[in-house]
Amino acid sequence: MSVSTASFEWISSLLEKCAGNLLGSDKTYLVEARLTPLAQAIGAGNVEAMVDRLRATPDVDLERQIVEAMLTHESSFFRDSDTFDALASQILPRLIERRRDRRELTIWSAACAAGQEPYSLAMLMKEQFAGAFAGWTVRIVATDLSRSMLDQARTGSYNEIKSQRGLSPERRERFFRQEGRAWVIREDLRESIDFREINLCADPPPLRQFDLVLLRNVLIYLTEPARQKVLARVAACLADDGCLLLGATESISHESRLFVRDTKSAVPCFRPTVIS
Ligand SMILES: C[S@@+](CC[C@H](N)C(=O)[O-])C[C@H]1O[C@@H](n2cnc3c(N)ncnc32)[C@H](O)[C@@H]1O
Repeated sequence: MSVSTASFEWISSLLEKCAGNLLGSDKTYLVEARLTPLAQAIGAGNVEAMVDRLRATPDVDLERQIVEAMLTHESSFFRDSDTFDALASQILPRLIERRRDRRELTIWSAACAAGQEPYSLAMLMKEQFAGAFAGWTVRIVATDLSRSMLDQARTGSYNEIKSQRGLSPERRERFFRQEGRAWVIREDLRESIDFREINLCADPPPLRQFDLVLLRNVLIYLTEPARQKVLARVAACLADDGCLLLGATESISHESRLFVRDTKSAVPCFRPTVIS
């Protein structure tokens, strides 16, 4: 049974209200593909019946499950390799230089999905900067709205296919151990990341100030007001000389006075506008 317009609109406004995500009007197929397994798991049979049930008897937990199931969690290790090259060759060396006296670095991987992004960063830092960070306090906080993604991220366990996406065999051998059919991230890397549940549209940032924020491949899913709200929150917690990294295909609209693009960087790297 296909989803009625009324049910589609109900799901669409739930997604916008709870996660700031925009569901295009041509996305009925997506609703059916992503929500039918949930409808069947709870014994509703199909999406239409699940929405009818929810409208009659509100259930916050089921609403959350619907929102989580509708979000796009696509990710891979070292996604957009140019960005990781820029981190290794420019962004991190510059931050290391600027924080040399304080010997502290604070990084936020916002919308981290199943952890591939923060673990890639942790691997890169081990490979390239282990010596430079000796004696430093380096904090990586990784957040997502999705509890199921965060559960996966915290276990650091990836199946054969996910473990191959973006990871060279050498890196997989070096930073993971094989457990049956899964590849599990090394304990020291897992422990170096503080995973937390944060809804970018509703919760304050996890710490007061960051030197580097990775906000990659999430703004594209948000409504314009949600984008503005999230960017304002990020601007407020980014150090004046800090760096915001977006996904390879993302940018900040010209209207945003909060950030300026680093024109010397080949990747979408922004710093907050400093009002003097
Ligand atoms: C496409 S993934 C991007 C993952 C990673 N940053 C990358 O670039 O590979 C988008 C992630 O954003 C999360 N997300 C969507 N809306 C969110 C919100 N309002 N607050 C926090 N996370 C959100 C989703 O759960 C999903 O894991």
